Amino acid sequence: ALSVNDYLRQHIRTVPDWPAPGVQFRDITPLLQNPKVFRVLIDAFVHRYMDRALRPDVVAGLDARGFILGAVVAYELNVGFVPIRKKGKLPFTTVEETYELEYGSATVELHADAVQPGDRVLLIDDLIATGGTMMAGKKLLEKLGATVMEGAAIVDLPELGGSARLRASGLPLYTLVDFS
Ligand code: PRP
Ligand code: HPA
Repeated sequence: ALSVNDYLRQHIRTVPDWPAPGVQFRDITPLLQNPKVFRVLIDAFVHRYMDRALRPDVVAGLDARGFILGAVVAYELNVGFVPIRKKGKLPFTTVEETYELEYGSATVELHADAVQPGDRVLLIDDLIATGGTMMAGKKLLEKLGATVMEGAAIVDLPELGGSARLRASGLPLYTLVDFS
């Protein structure tokens, strides 16, 4: 029988040369489109974080694909969900963090009251590439006094070094499918 990881891998679509020549884009939308696969995917996360020792107080999702996963996982764990958004979208007082991209930079924001000091937060996204997005999310949550107990994603691209950098910074990671 196929492992959960290999089953999910089979439902990730690779789109060549998108968004730029030479990039092999790992598209997770087929995982969401098929209800059986979507359930296997969400249950993989829920099963892990239902465990007493790993159950978070809050789930934080990274804009935009981390919202899809994070909201459903939070709902199933019966904890709240908070969005970490690209700059300029959140209406209330925010904290922000700027990070470097291959060309230029990006800024993400979090509402200042999204988490409380001491909260144990699960940080979710669809994919880890350079790790810059997840690192910025971790810093935002830590600015508010929360602890990111783990980062979770469907896909890791280990050759880009992001997951190694995140782990080296002290963030445990749980990912389901590696692509080289
Ligand atoms: C992608 C992906 C992650 C991030 C990973 O999002 O969904 O959030 O990039 O890259 P990194 O590890 O190098 O930071 P993107 O910025 O394309 O935003 P989107 O979800 O709004 O399309
Ligand atoms: N797929 C989805 N998001 C991404 C990728 C990818 O291959 N690379 C960087 N962000």
